[in-house]
Amino acid sequence: MKALITGSNGFIGSHLSTEFEKNGYEVIKSDLTEGGGNIAMDIMNPAVIQSVLEKYKPDVIINMAGQANVGLSWKKPQLTVQLNTVGLINILESVKAVNSEIRVIAIGSSDEYGSLKESGSNVTEDIPVKPVTPYAISKQAQELFAQLYVQSYGMDICMIRLFNLGGAGQSKGYMISDFSSGIAEVELGKKDVMSVGNLESARDYTHVKDACRAVRLIVEKGHVGEVYNICSGTTHTVQEVLDKLIAMAKTEIKVVQDPARMRPSDTPVVCGNHDKLTAHTGWQPKYGIDEILKDALTYWREQN
Ligand SMILES: NC(=O)c1ccc[n+]([C@@H]2O[C@H](COP(=O)([O-])OP(=O)(O)OC[C@H]3O[C@@H](n4cnc5c(N)ncnc54)[C@H](O)[C@@H]3O)[C@@H](O)[C@H]2O)c1
Repeated sequence: MKALITGSNGFIGSHLSTEFEKNGYEVIKSDLTEGGGNIAMDIMNPAVIQSVLEKYKPDVIINMAGQANVGLSWKKPQLTVQLNTVGLINILESVKAVNSEIRVIAIGSSDEYGSLKESGSNVTEDIPVKPVTPYAISKQAQELFAQLYVQSYGMDICMIRLFNLGGAGQSKGYMISDFSSGIAEVELGKKDVMSVGNLESARDYTHVKDACRAVRLIVEKGHVGEVYNICSGTTHTVQEVLDKLIAMAKTEIKVVQDPARMRPSDTPVVCGNHDKLTAHTGWQPKYGIDEILKDALTYWREQN
């Protein structure tokens, strides 16, 4: 089996390449620029996508390229929709033109569920989505296009909604990587204290390696046209994550709460339900929060 991975230089894309290679796939890695085993394939350029499909003839495309940052999506909504929504349409149009039998995996986010208020404790795929950020709207829109191409052209597409991930290689801008990099900096004396915001919210965290195994199983066993949550089905509060990381630190960590970052979340708990994924593929998470945090902290110690 030949798998074309877009965004393979990114956090998830790099782990995904390893997961597929380890499991006997021939992997074509692609990102904006060539190098380190990657080919260059800009998902904004349909002609380039088509020529890659004609040349490499993949059996499956996993689209990990995109604009993954919710904060940036408020500053750059056009770019976010271009990369996350138009990027997938470019891939789908290229697949339709070259070989519509290629399986495509479209990557969405738990952010599509949006403001869940008090009803976030068992988030199944069929609860109504209410996207409330440009990022979430771009992800919901790409999913709707994926569904449209399944219904209108009979294409072989599975859709994924990824919940919070953690592990080695995640950039700053996510809670686990921000805390881990902060602790690594305090350990090295680069700063004295860690500044934190609201510690109450409880979220669902999956190890990036478990998520990548889930993506591979969806490639192999996922049903056409289905949306799959990838989540652990358990939650941890921000306070719990912070306490665990502080317990792993090599030095005393002073924490200050930054009033500017104390916005209360209107969704106290987000806990995903992965029953459909498990029923269709047998997937279960293997790693818990401790491994997620240990791998994130080790990564940030190596970066500093
Ligand atoms: N990280 C998470 O916790 C998380 C959670 C939910 C969903 N997601 C989604 O998963 C996907 C991957 O996320 P990530 O964290 O690995 O992001 P990332 O930013 O680490 O990687 C994205 C990759 O896409 C590449 N890219 C950007 N524009 C491109 C273009 N025009 N053509 C080709 N490549 C391009 C970038 O160079 C980068 O290597 C994104 O769609 C993101 O929204 C991530």
